[in-house]
Amino acid sequence: MKDTVYVPPIKIQGIKTKLVPLIKQSVAMNKNSVWIEPFMGSGVVGFNVEPHYAIFADTNPHIIEFYNQIKKGNITPYIVREFLECEGKLLEKGNDEYYYTVRTRFNQEHNPLDFLFLNRACFNGMIRFNKNYDFNVPYGHKPKRFAKAYVTKIVNQVAHVSDLLHKYEWKFVCQSFEETISMAGENDFIYCDPPYIGRHVDYYDSWDEQAEITLHKALVDSNARFMLSTWNHNDYRQNDYIAMVWNDCQKITQEHFYHIGAKEKNRNSVVEALLTNYTVNGKQNELLLNNK
Ligand SMILES: C[S@@+](CC[C@H](N)C(=O)[O-])C[C@H]1O[C@@H](n2cnc3c(N)ncnc32)[C@H](O)[C@@H]1O
Repeated sequence: MKDTVYVPPIKIQGIKTKLVPLIKQSVAMNKNSVWIEPFMGSGVVGFNVEPHYAIFADTNPHIIEFYNQIKKGNITPYIVREFLECEGKLLEKGNDEYYYTVRTRFNQEHNPLDFLFLNRACFNGMIRFNKNYDFNVPYGHKPKRFAKAYVTKIVNQVAHVSDLLHKYEWKFVCQSFEETISMAGENDFIYCDPPYIGRHVDYYDSWDEQAEITLHKALVDSNARFMLSTWNHNDYRQNDYIAMVWNDCQKITQEHFYHIGAKEKNRNSVVEALLTNYTVNGKQNELLLNNK
């Protein structure tokens, strides 16, 4: 059976779209559990799991604000269409110069619609902020970037998430993972997709060994069931932190291609791992490896 994966309107490097089917099959929660996602990024994982109750969190305030504005009804599919059609025309006329005008405007005013525009017009749908917390991704240079079909695609993505937000009890909060994990009860389910050590490009997104150890401790102390996405190995090396920090977990792996980096040669094939503190039942059992 082919799983249709819903793609959300905001993109991010490291987006887990391709892992969604495997994650969905492997979660362990019941209908009263709260889905807790401390590193929501694009939100693609939780939005596809569709739990009734959820807390989506991230340290990036612009992602959280975007979804809170949809929840409040200040951003609607109609408003997004009007905005992108108008800004798209100005971009077509002004090109690079107009992109950088919007980028400067966003860095002064933090309008979530400008954030959407920049995210969809910038280089490779990246989210990157400099040390002054200014968005600094360059222009993506796609001719007719906001052509009618592309705008419609984004509008449909907003419409889908807007329906979900009206159907379910979901909260969006800007806070660190420690605070988010401390909100979990024993019956809840925590899905974590932290930045990878040594790969961070963004000042909302720094990560080191100490953060990895703190995350492990917070998850174990929560007594909730948890799942963590990380990388297992690539062509050149393996992720030693799995054995160092996560050796009390079980592991599922899946090959998954990374779509970041402008040139093919920069796109490494990465084997992703899902680490859990419970045994995953069903079809995926044969993929379970205990790394102790
Ligand atoms: C790898 S991305 C998550 C991608 C997401 N799973 C997806 O598929 O789109 C990691 C996210 O963690 C956030 N983040 C980084 N450090 C954090 C921290 N200390 N607490 C909470 N969120 C953090 C970043 O802003 C980023 O959005």
